[in-house]
Amino acid sequence: MRVSLVKKIVGVYGYPIGHTLSPLFQNAAFKELGLNFIYLPFLVKPKDLKKAIEAVKALNMVGVNITVPYKRAVLPYLDELSPEASKIGAVNTIHHYRGKLIGYNTDGEGFINSLKEEGNFEPEGKNVYLLGAGGAAYGIAFSLIKAGIKSLALTNRTKEKGELLLKHLKKFSPQGCILRFIEFNKRNSATLLKEIDLLVNATSVGMNSDDPLLINFEIFSREIFVYDIVYNKDKKTRLIEAAEERKFPYLEGEKMLIYQGAISFEIWTKRKAPIEVMKRAIKEKNAKVSYGW
Ligand SMILES: NC(=O)c1ccc[n+]([C@@H]2O[C@H](COP(=O)([O-])OP(=O)(O)OC[C@H]3O[C@@H](n4cnc5c(N)ncnc54)[C@H](OP(=O)(O)O)[C@@H]3O)[C@@H](O)[C@H]2O)c1
Repeated sequence: MRVSLVKKIVGVYGYPIGHTLSPLFQNAAFKELGLNFIYLPFLVKPKDLKKAIEAVKALNMVGVNITVPYKRAVLPYLDELSPEASKIGAVNTIHHYRGKLIGYNTDGEGFINSLKEEGNFEPEGKNVYLLGAGGAAYGIAFSLIKAGIKSLALTNRTKEKGELLLKHLKKFSPQGCILRFIEFNKRNSATLLKEIDLLVNATSVGMNSDDPLLINFEIFSREIFVYDIVYNKDKKTRLIEAAEERKFPYLEGEKMLIYQGAISFEIWTKRKAPIEVMKRAIKEKNAKVSYGW
C-alpha cells in the first residue's frame, strides 16, 4: 500500500489491540472498491483515551472502531449518539462527520446478522444465556431482545455490572421477554443450562489460550447453539472446543467481527461492504498477522 497517497484514515482503538483482525478485512474491502482509505490499529492506554478521541478530530480522521475495554468509556467524549447507540449505552464505531463525533453501535446488529446468515439460527422465541456485561454484551443483549427472544439469563463476574446491564435492558425490553441475573458462582446451575437454546460468551475469557472454560458442558442434556464472540488468531477458544466435542453447532467471533465491521465500513464510506472479500481476507491471512504488541 502506498501510504503517502492515502487520504482517509480509520482505525481501531483498544487496550490490548494486538489481537485485532479488523485491519486485515477492512483494508481488503477498501482495496476491492478502490477507496482511498487506510485502517490502522492503535494501542490506546486508559489515561490517553480522551486525547485519542480528540485526535480523531485533530487529525481529521474519518472515524474509528472502539474495542475492549472502552465501548462505554468513550460516551462522554462524543458529540452525538445514534438512536440505537443511545439506547444500548455503548459505542463501537465513531464517525467524524461535519465536525462532530457521532457514536454508533454495530455490535448487536452484526451479531444478529451473523447468527442468522452464518449460523442459520433464528433467535425469535429462544432462551438465551449471556456471559458478560461489558461493552459488547450491551449491544448483543439489546439486539437479541429486539429480535424477539423469549428469555435472557445474564451472568457476570462483577455482580454490580451485571445488575446494571439488567436494569438498563429492563428500560426498553418489550413485555414478554423474561430477563434475569444469575450470580456468577451459580452460573452452572443445571436447571438453567437445561432450558437454554443459545449460549453467548461476551466476556473476554478466551482471548488467552490458557483461559478457563466458564461453563460445564457435562450438564447440557440436549443440543444448544454456542456463539463465542471472542476470536483468537492462533487457535479455537476452549468454549468452541467444548462445543465441537459435544457436536453442538457454533459460531466463532470472527463471524461477528466481519458483520459488525461491514456496518462500520458502510457508515464511513457510504458504500456497500463487500462481505465475501472481507471473509476471504480473514481466511487467507489469519494467523499470519502480528503487530508486535
Ligand atoms: N467478534 C467481535 O466482533 C467482537 C466484538 C466485540 C467484542 N468482542 C470480544 O468480546 C470480548 C469482550 O469485549 P468488551 O468490549 O465487552 O470488553 P469489556 O467491556 O472489557 O468487558 C469484558 C467482560 O469480560 C468479563 N471478564 C473479563 N475477565 C474475566 C474473567 N477472568 N472471568 C470472568 N469474566 C471476565 C468482564 O467481567 P467484569 O465486569 O467482572 O470485569 C466483562 O463482563 C473481548 O474479547 C472482545 O475482543 C468481539
